[in-house]
Amino acid sequence: MPTHRELARDHGIALATATRVYTELAEAGLVVGEPGRGTFVREQFGYDGVEPQRVAHGNRVADLAFNQPLDPGQADDLRDRLRELAATGDIETLLVQHPPGGRSTDRAVVATHLLDAGIDVAPENVLLTGGAQHGLDTVLRALARPGDVIAVDELTYPGIKLIADVQGIELAAVRHTDRGMSLGSLEKLCRERSVKAVYTMPTLHNPLGSVMGADDRSRMAAVARRYDTFLIEDATYAFLAPDAPAPLYAVAPERTVYVASLSKNLATGLRFGFLVAPTAHRHRLVRTLKASSWGTPPIIAALAVAWLRSGAITRWTHQRRIDARSRQHVAARVFSGLDYRAHPAAYFGWLRLPSGIRAVQMERTLAAQGILVSTADEFSVRPHPPAALRISLSGTPTLATLERVLETIRTELPP
Ligand SMILES: Cc1ncc(COP(=O)(O)O)c(C=O)c1O
Repeated sequence: MPTHRELARDHGIALATATRVYTELAEAGLVVGEPGRGTFVREQFGYDGVEPQRVAHGNRVADLAFNQPLDPGQADDLRDRLRELAATGDIETLLVQHPPGGRSTDRAVVATHLLDAGIDVAPENVLLTGGAQHGLDTVLRALARPGDVIAVDELTYPGIKLIADVQGIELAAVRHTDRGMSLGSLEKLCRERSVKAVYTMPTLHNPLGSVMGADDRSRMAAVARRYDTFLIEDATYAFLAPDAPAPLYAVAPERTVYVASLSKNLATGLRFGFLVAPTAHRHRLVRTLKASSWGTPPIIAALAVAWLRSGAITRWTHQRRIDARSRQHVAARVFSGLDYRAHPAAYFGWLRLPSGIRAVQMERTLAAQGILVSTADEFSVRPHPPAALRISLSGTPTLATLERVLETIRTELPP
């Protein structure tokens, strides 16, 4: 785009007016200003007709259906990393296929990163994936068969529902309490049916935000041992609650597969994730990766490893934690008096609708105003989901605009 000065001159307007034009265009997500480089037209992503809620940053739509936190400083950070990568000596290595699950040097960097998450593991037990979703898909392909039963919380991450559906795996609902998955209900299920695995989010369950206590983690491991089932620990959001008890992997390393990524603390578009698995499962997991994408493209692995090595990830993670808490403060204020529940460190919250209001109806009303939210049925494994919305506070609105968007939701509900 022309400079502010050129715009003013070409159109015969004051410089201040030209500046305001650019400010408004930026607020509308149509342009982006880059210090020292100028103003650029933003790439616009539209609805692709398949997943209407996946609207990228920069559109006018306020997407509160998908958590995609991004800090304005990250674009420059990416530019620096790419420059560094281009200047490295042996760049040819990125043109050569890496082993399925990643090079041992890259896996070692992830193993070091995992120490912060309370996981002390040898690099051989780490495998790189194209994000946590790819990790979960790989785990079920490798370690389960069509027709197997996987125990999940009655409200669970929609991605696991999708994987189970595609792979012909049955999800069995387990009651969920404020403390996480009900272990009585899990034990009953394991007694009655042959349960292949338990899929669980012990730290910051999506969508309810629960964090399982240390005792309950030990009890869950004991149930898994008693019924010889394995545990799939989804730790995608665990970095937001660093004071949570030790991960399940640390409690039952012989039967837990830990799945995480850098999507929510770095960037959803990076598609970099990792699995930590017992040695007994390694061979099958590697074979399964080999049957699909081989894990992570070398260029992406190199970028992610550079972020991990430089310590920049610690900075972004810290920023994310502060941002998530600030957004929950805003939500708590705007939704006070409503049945809104959230963990103060989480990116999302659960808004129960007053009786008489259906979630789909509310979803449509908000979509008509350019606000996208998720309804409980997307998360529910049972036939009659509650009338509730999952609100992603780290969707596209900035912290500054979030309040206005949440106020709009508030005005659609009875006082
Ligand atoms: C609980 C949970 N697990 C896994 C994922 C997938 O993460 P990724 O982007 O790394 O594939 C998500 C994404 O929203 C999630 O909420």
